[in-house]
Amino acid sequence: MPADAAGTWPVTLVEGPVTLRPLRRRDRRAWLDLRAANAAWLRPWDATSPVGAPPTSFGAYLRSQDRQGRSGEGLPFVVEVDGDLVGQVSIMTIVRGALWSGSVGYWISRHVAGRGITPWAVATACDYAWGALGLHRLEVNVRPENGPSLRVVAKLGFREEGLRRRFLHIDGDWRDHRSFALTAEEVPGGLVRRLRAAGQVPR
Ligand SMILES: CC(C)(COP(=O)(O)OP(=O)(O)OC[C@H]1O[C@@H](n2cnc3c(N)ncnc32)[C@H](O)[C@@H]1OP(=O)(O)O)[C@@H](O)C(=O)NCCC(=O)NCCS
Repeated sequence: MPADAAGTWPVTLVEGPVTLRPLRRRDRRAWLDLRAANAAWLRPWDATSPVGAPPTSFGAYLRSQDRQGRSGEGLPFVVEVDGDLVGQVSIMTIVRGALWSGSVGYWISRHVAGRGITPWAVATACDYAWGALGLHRLEVNVRPENGPSLRVVAKLGFREEGLRRRFLHIDGDWRDHRSFALTAEEVPGGLVRRLRAAGQVPR
């Protein structure tokens, strides 16, 4: 019987050198510095608003992340490696009913890119969502131009489902996305085990 996500947040997951945990009030300085240092790196892939919503403060962002975690609508993790905040992996838009699905998003600081941290962190979050939360299907949507992110889904063995035209508002416009998914029964042993078996461990 799957657990209901509401009531399980806050959650911390540790898998090898990678820790996934909620954003905290005391992350403010590190968070703002990390986002500033990575502004140009993230701009082409960052979600924007079609109605030009004003930027949110750290406090408002923290509250919205906490609300989504506690309500069971999302799993908004930050990624920590060796005690440093280096990015985010989130499973959002969690829908139950007849679907039990969520959408995975991620980014990592440029200074630690290419070390296999994101596939590992995504695998850890997905295994938790399938296991403890009992979700059935997890999807990842990637812009066709995003070579590094396409490598992440390839390493994890996500199955391509097709092209969603003008699917998400990214970097100021509606952008096409390639859609990938996995259901729980496609990965009975979990994604971390799959990565380990392939020697795809974080460096
Ligand atoms: C996509 C992203 C999360 C990948 O994270 P990562 O932890 O670097 O993942 P990996 O280490 O598995 O590397 C993935 C690919 O990135 C590329 N890459 C490797 N080193 C890199 C570097 N220093 N800089 C840029 N790209 C690099 C390679 O193509 C690599 O594939 P390979 O391992 O087969 O060579 C990261 O590039 C990122 O945050 N990009 C900006 C935000 C973004 O695109 N988010 C996803 C939106 S769908």
